[in-house]
Amino acid sequence: MPVRMKQVCVAIILGLLAGTVHSHADDKETAAAVTDEDGKYFDKDGTPTFNIKEDGTVDWYTYSGYRRFNSECHVCHGADGAGSTFAPALVNSLKTMSYADFLSTVAEGRKNLSAGKESVMPAFGENKNVYCYLDDIYVYLRARAVGDLPRGRPAKKEDKPEAAREQEASCMGG
Ligand code: HEC
Repeated sequence: MPVRMKQVCVAIILGLLAGTVHSHADDKETAAAVTDEDGKYFDKDGTPTFNIKEDGTVDWYTYSGYRRFNSECHVCHGADGAGSTFAPALVNSLKTMSYADFLSTVAEGRKNLSAGKESVMPAFGENKNVYCYLDDIYVYLRARAVGDLPRGRPAKKEDKPEAAREQEASCMGG
């Protein structure tokens, strides 16, 4: 094998290895809520997560995320995150996408102009109806991706926590 080809192969293998190290897989176990701060749930790493009780009652933020997603994102990503012909099914994306990558993708947007197709995710970093509720949308999609949350409006939800009211007022007002 010519030296240059060997170098290319080594580079590709290193790239694949780096990809494996950085990959992130989410499931019910990693997404399990271990702490609760005034109705907002966090997993063992301190990342926001959903909480669904045995009778199907969802935490407030998951419910709020359902509403925000289905008003700001569904036109492209399909109702309940199920996907469309031109935007990915986020119920699949969130099985491997980290919280940090989710936040930056939604804030900054993304363009994929390869292979003659134009695939554009708009930036929402300036849209309060989205960025004031980013965690809500995240936990909702996480519940859809790994938490058995069925499609449609959750039938039962926890009351809106005082902390959610305060955060909303300061974010939307500021
Ligand atoms: C105008 C259409 C449109 C809207 C509205 C939209 N998106 Fe997207 N989004 C896209 C497209 C197209 C892509 C794929 C971009 C690419 O090919 O890189 C995408 C990609 C993404 C990804 C990365 C998925 C992956 O598998 O890598 C995330 C996360 C995402 N969008 C979240 C959201 C959220 C949350 C909202 C609502 C706040 C939203 N999007 C609204 C079109 C849209």
